[in-house]
Amino acid sequence: MTFDRSIKIAPSILSADFANFGEEIRAIEAQGADWVHVDVMDGHFVPNLTFGPPAVKAFRPHVKTVMDVHLMIAPVDPYIDAYAEAGADILTAHIEAGPHTHRTLQAIRGAGMKAGVALNPGTPADAVEHLLDLTDLICVMTVNPGFGGQKFIDMTAKVRRLREMIGDRPVHIEIDGGVDPTTAPLVVEAGADALVAGSAVFKGGSVGNPDVYGDNIRAIRAAAEGARKAA
Ligand code: DX5
Ligand code: ZN
Repeated sequence: MTFDRSIKIAPSILSADFANFGEEIRAIEAQGADWVHVDVMDGHFVPNLTFGPPAVKAFRPHVKTVMDVHLMIAPVDPYIDAYAEAGADILTAHIEAGPHTHRTLQAIRGAGMKAGVALNPGTPADAVEHLLDLTDLICVMTVNPGFGGQKFIDMTAKVRRLREMIGDRPVHIEIDGGVDPTTAPLVVEAGADALVAGSAVFKGGSVGNPDVYGDNIRAIRAAAEGARKAA
């Protein structure tokens, strides 16, 4: 994975057909997805449950781009090796998931993955000040994590602050929650480059009608790139 700040669209398979992940992943990639975002929830850190390492491992052969695994679990450290073994390219842990995010990020890199840190809406940008050299991606949550299809919470001031703090470091700013063609320009203008979108990509489409996924991805990308040019 090489670093650049071009716009990346990362569909969240939380909004896919859970009985058909392989085909869904192939469909979104064929329709222009840059990364595949995988939301892991434990029913403890967040009030919802999705899947664990064996399922993520089963997704791996279908992902030809980048498998971006977002852990909404606590604790994180006992599972890092399992997600490395499952084939995650990026492994993101929440800063709120435990007291030792510094150690967690080192362990994720040590296991050969890119290390991401996610911030809930209530967590300030400054929380990552001393982690910037240990991280490859900062995920700014624009919903409270746990469910797809929630309303976007405006975190543009936080994104702007992070963009300043990051400076020239090769660190992605990812936005997760409520991203669609109307909200994408706000966060891109503030400095984001990776956009997770669940409902806005999958709505109206299916593996039998995948062109809709392509239309949805192109609409988000066009809105985001328009904001980038204007910035
Ligand atoms: C929320 C997840 C998101 C979610 C986004 O807890 O981390 O990745 O799937 O879904 P939308 O785009 O529908 O808000
Ligand atoms: Zn996510």
